[in-house]
Amino acid sequence: MPNILLLHGPNLNLLGTREPEVYGSMTLDDINAAVIAAAAERGAEVRPFQSNHEGALIDTLHQARGWANGVVFNPGAYTHTSVALRDAISAVELPVVEVHLSNVHAREAFRHKSLLAPVCVGQISGFGWRSYLLGLDAILGHLEALKS
Ligand code: DQA
Repeated sequence: MPNILLLHGPNLNLLGTREPEVYGSMTLDDINAAVIAAAAERGAEVRPFQSNHEGALIDTLHQARGWANGVVFNPGAYTHTSVALRDAISAVELPVVEVHLSNVHAREAFRHKSLLAPVCVGQISGFGWRSYLLGLDAILGHLEALKS
């Protein structure tokens, strides 16, 4: 059974009330529940974690080496700024799928660049809360392909 870390970065704890026209009306708990249910149907286990702190996200990635097979990660604004998170992803050698609710490429120029995407399996952006379901499908498909 694959174990998946579902990691959420800064300000995503405010989903539901944060700029709903950009990020939708689902809360983080709603999204976590939807991903956990979708994973259970595929025989996978998902453990969610959110932090507003870069170091806590890094610590969680490090700890995931001990139990997770892959990661679905919405790094929030750290996507565009964090060399430290990029280095953590490289260091732990776990496959990571980067997800965004909004289409970052259709927004301000500073959101077009991801420092993390080059060390991720791929990036999913713009499908609202369903980006996470697509991210789950992507990481499970990637893990399945590694087996064959
Ligand atoms: C986001 C996009 C980021 O640019 C932004 O800073 C976020 C959310 C998204 O899910 O669309 O916090 O990662």
